[in-house]
Amino acid sequence: MKKVLAVTAGRKSGNTEILAKEVLMVAEENGAEVNMINLHDYNIKTCTGCESCTMKMGKGERPECIYKGKDDMDRIMEKFLQADGIVISIPSFVL
Ligand SMILES: Cc1cc2nc3c(=O)[nH]c(=O)nc-3n(C[C@H](O)[C@H](O)[C@H](O)COP(=O)(O)O)c2cc1C
Repeated sequence: MKKVLAVTAGRKSGNTEILAKEVLMVAEENGAEVNMINLHDYNIKTCTGCESCTMKMGKGERPECIYKGKDDMDRIMEKFLQADGIVISIPSFVL
């Protein structure tokens, strides 16, 4: 069964969640296993621009954030990697 993940970042039960759920309902009707996450439920540390990830990529190594294991990005990434399709639904606040 195909897995579809919706990633939202608006208010709980707000418009972006409603739109994501509309998409997921159609996916589910067509046989997909669906899941939705709201980024507000996760601890995501802000990028400092230290470039340690890009330096590793430049050396042909697997990029790794200095915050690896210190926030929830691994949990989020695991969900991304398990999904066959990803729907991103975010509110527009600055044009
Ligand atoms: C402070 C603020 C700024 C906003 N700026 C924009 C904007 O620039 N463009 C736009 O299309 N909508 C704008 N909106 C509307 C939001 O995108 C809209 O309220 C959306 O439903 C919020 O998502 P949510 O309901 O999932 O929280 C703005 C809303 C707020 C509160």
